[in-house]
Amino acid sequence: MSCRLLSFALVGAISLLMVRLMAEVVPADGLWNEIYKSAWVGIYKSDQAVRGEGDYRARCASCHGISLEGTDDGPSLAGRDFREDWNGANVADLFEKIQFTMPANRPGRLTGDQDADILAYILKFNGFPAGPSALSTSVDELRGVRFVSMNPGR
Ligand code: HEC
Repeated sequence: MSCRLLSFALVGAISLLMVRLMAEVVPADGLWNEIYKSAWVGIYKSDQAVRGEGDYRARCASCHGISLEGTDDGPSLAGRDFREDWNGANVADLFEKIQFTMPANRPGRLTGDQDADILAYILKFNGFPAGPSALSTSVDELRGVRFVSMNPGR
């Protein structure tokens, strides 16, 4: 093999290797869904969402609106913009946002169960289905669940 041919072959082999590596570093959507559970599999129980609606109305609706549409005092917690904002985040981030910073005028006053109930209600309102087990109050468990704006099964 001439020197020139050899270098062509080498460049070719290296490019192939790079493409292969990139494919592994940036997995396709299907692979992500296998690694992370998404909120579309049903990560809260429907009775949680029912309780959460009561708490939401009492503690959150004054700023975020009775239909989660937002007011002058707080952004909307439902709809496309909200889902796009949180797309790809893990559910633990959303839980901690509520747990540590909300209600904005009196943060940290709710119990973990109340935070989970309210988050269940927000998920339900955004079209995520209920499932067989309750939304966990453990941040470690919630870290394994991704908030994905579009239903990957549709
Ligand atoms: C006194 C008004 C007020 C109350 C009451 C309130 N919030 Fe908020 N909330 C805000 C404001 C203002 C922001 C935007 C600033 C920020 O992200 O901290 C916000 C942001 C948020 C966000 C992030 C939205 C986004 O798109 O990033 C979530 C989630 C949230 N609130 C949930 C709640 C929940 C749940 C409750 C009830 C437990 C609640 N809030 C009560 C004012 C309020």
